[in-house]
Amino acid sequence: MPITTDVAPAAAALQAGELVAVPTETVYGLAARADDPHAVARIYAVKGRPADHPLIVHVKDATALSHWGIDIPDFANQLAEQLWPGPMTLVVRRSARAGDFITGGQDTVAVRVSAHPLMHALLGELARITHDDAIGIAAPSANRFGKVSPTDASHVQQEFEGLVDDLVILDGGPSSVGVESTIIDCTATAPRILRTGAITDADIERITGMRTTSSTSDDKETVRVSGSLDSHYSPDATVRLVTETELAMQAADSTTGVLALDAIATPTGLVRLSAPATTDDYARVLYAALREADALGLTRVLAVPPPPSGLGAAVIDRLTRAAHGE
Ligand code: TXA
Ligand code: MG
Repeated sequence: MPITTDVAPAAAALQAGELVAVPTETVYGLAARADDPHAVARIYAVKGRPADHPLIVHVKDATALSHWGIDIPDFANQLAEQLWPGPMTLVVRRSARAGDFITGGQDTVAVRVSAHPLMHALLGELARITHDDAIGIAAPSANRFGKVSPTDASHVQQEFEGLVDDLVILDGGPSSVGVESTIIDCTATAPRILRTGAITDADIERITGMRTTSSTSDDKETVRVSGSLDSHYSPDATVRLVTETELAMQAADSTTGVLALDAIATPTGLVRLSAPATTDDYARVLYAALREADALGLTRVLAVPPPPSGLGAAVIDRLTRAAHGE
């Protein structure tokens, strides 16, 4: 698979209707022109993703929001102005630009402006060669459906080796946030978080002055967020959430990996996967550590979650889904 740090060939490939793996500060995406139904259909085929799971449209800047959405409430514009570029996706009513093949036939569209400099440069180049400043690229996380999201170009390569050998990978280095963007539904009278991420309810309340609601399990039937399926982000190894005390009581076992903050010791005979110093570090290393468990052939990962503040809520959410069924 060709790996490059040059946006020109990546933009040319997108313009021609090919898929390109793109870096963002959250996770890597598998991108296609959002106005090309054939290119977008390939994303679904390659990922093995059900067709009714809508995609996020990535655009160059906040001005493009009004090209992809309609009836955008003030609070959504405030969030866009203050938090983009950044790890935030806004769901708004769609304009005619957002085809059924992007939205899964829903009347809403998810839009994001990533802060990654290469992603910004790529969208700038694509806008230039297509003469369309609001051009969007549809990109879900660049992993097979239900699997662990990639936070490095080498992860994308592992994921699609033998499946799409001609995939161009734009290498932007390791993702600095490490878990997917916060998704905020902006189609009701107040913002509602559909997926937790680096932007928290406190950030939203500070900027909009409005209370956010969170999606309840009842909503899951109607809001099609694949990241909100109970089982997702799963490595081959089984994942179990444990407390520090439970971890300390484990007997030696060379097939069990440990993921916990640095301050928590590894019991003798278990395999330490990572020792992040802070909650933000935990988010950054989380997916790489789950991949490492599989690379080492471990059968089980014991994870002591970080405290729930800030990015901790998103880390706990992803660990819980990775552990589902255990
Ligand atoms: O950080 C991220 O958001 C990454 C990077 C690549 O941008 N992308 C990402 O995409 O996580 P994906 O497809 O793995 O997750 C996007 C989520 C899906 O769960 C999808 O169902 C939801 O966004 N989504 C997309 N459009 C939606 C809509 N109109 N209404 C509700 N949810 C939507
Ligand atoms: Mg995903």
